[in-house]
Amino acid sequence: MKTVTTIKELKQIIKNHKKENRTIGFVPTMGYLHEGHLSLMKKAREENDLLVVSIFVNPLQFGENEDFDSYPRNLERDAILTKEEGADYLFAPSADEMYPHEPSISMKAVKRTNVLCGKSRPGHFDGVAAVLTKLFHLVQPDRAYFGMKDAQQVAVISGLIEDFHFPVELVPVETVREPDGLAKSSRNVYLLKEEREQAPELYKALNEGAGLLASGHSPEHAADFVKKRIEDRTTGEIDYVEVYSYPDLQPLQEAKGTIILAAAVKFSKARLIDNITLQL
Ligand code: PAJ
Repeated sequence: MKTVTTIKELKQIIKNHKKENRTIGFVPTMGYLHEGHLSLMKKAREENDLLVVSIFVNPLQFGENEDFDSYPRNLERDAILTKEEGADYLFAPSADEMYPHEPSISMKAVKRTNVLCGKSRPGHFDGVAAVLTKLFHLVQPDRAYFGMKDAQQVAVISGLIEDFHFPVELVPVETVREPDGLAKSSRNVYLLKEEREQAPELYKALNEGAGLLASGHSPEHAADFVKKRIEDRTTGEIDYVEVYSYPDLQPLQEAKGTIILAAAVKFSKARLIDNITLQL
């Protein structure tokens, strides 16, 4: 595996591979890799001739009071893990390399962003759309792999790919969890000991809520139930617990079709998100 830090070198590499008609699988990440990221790499490795992984903590997608500075980073360890997954190239640019000057064009993700994390983190998906536009142009992947842990991100990226005609197939991958159900996340390291013990209650509550939806209860009732469970069993502060259609993220009177039950909970130093999608 080769680690590449400059756009110039990456462009040359991709150009050479494109000449040989080799399919490119791409896994964009912000690093501090865990089993969730590795599962995307495994799938991409199986399905493509070439595997390109990127690690870039994208400043554009963090709000002013968010955790950009404290976001966990460990490129050395990540490079070892990426190599073990059989990646051909690890693209790990600096912020100056990706954003050498003030942008001339800004992107605004206008659909599927007025709820959930889009509402709680204004500008977040604009930053995700901007960095992925750059990365898709540079890597020119045939397939790009994204985790359903960030289901709203998948919904927004599918709009980005459609609107701008990126010749990329979006491949969603299911959430990888700890044995106790907690969704793997780079931010889990910032949970205090007692918070880590409480954190699995998030997924447990979502599962119970999904059970209510499946047995005909209203979205409102299911969301209230999940909120109460999380409030009763954790010290976390609920950001949202909501039910929408998926992937359009429209409010629902009754639970029908493909729906998402999603939650975000703020602990003292980490904001956790999780969701369940179900077909009713
Ligand atoms: P990051 O949070 O590092 O996640 C990279 C990819 O790993 C995303 O597609 C995310 O959904 C997936 N992922 C994270 N936890 C997962 C889990 N437990 N199971 C399965 N997949 C999981 O998402 C981003 O980075 C950024 O927004 C990015 C797309 C790289 C743009 O900057």
